[in-house]
Amino acid sequence: MNRPVVIYSSHYGFTERYARWIARDLGCPIFPAKPFPAQKLAGFDTVIFGGGLYAGGVSGIRQLIANRKALSSKKVILFTCGLADPFVPDNAAHIRASLEKTLPPEMMESIHFYHLRGGIDYSRLNFVHRSMMAMLQKMLQKKDPRTLGPEDLQLLETYGKRIDFTDPDSIKPLVEDART
Ligand SMILES: Cc1cc2nc3c(=O)[nH]c(=O)nc-3n(C[C@H](O)[C@H](O)[C@H](O)COP(=O)(O)O)c2cc1C
Repeated sequence: MNRPVVIYSSHYGFTERYARWIARDLGCPIFPAKPFPAQKLAGFDTVIFGGGLYAGGVSGIRQLIANRKALSSKKVILFTCGLADPFVPDNAAHIRASLEKTLPPEMMESIHFYHLRGGIDYSRLNFVHRSMMAMLQKMLQKKDPRTLGPEDLQLLETYGKRIDFTDPDSIKPLVEDART
């Protein structure tokens, strides 16, 4: 029997929203990644882990790596939630390259990856995140616009705003994968 569980790491609720949609569709438990629910994993054979993208890295991924022994006998599905459109090949390639730098090769090979689109609300960002985004915006503004990629242009267009790209339909392939 396939017993899935969803674990998520979310700063502003976008990843959490996807995690809740996935858990609802699968009718399975859901836990935040902090503290990592290591003891609770024994009863599940599919672990779905979701994390927001921050400067290319996946929030909470360190906890996933730290628990790789307990996860090695399970099917692991990892979904990212970021501002950039994952259907733009360059964006997906960036996420993949960053995952390759972070995850041990055996996890990179065995994990099933999905990239979902979140959103941002600048008025809610904490000081560190707001400063990071301000620095990035300044840096991009100084560049020749013709050299900017789609991810950069998107950031400049949405800077300072509140934007929400979350789409419940986009979880369907992941949910299907988790069921099989
Ligand atoms: C400091 C900072 C860095 C970010 N870096 C990225 C990034 O590298 N790629 C991306 O697609 N989105 C990036 N984002 C956007 C977040 O991934 C997006 O807001 C996501 O929906 C956050 O999910 P959460 O609320 O679950 O943490 C960044 C946002 C902030 C504030």
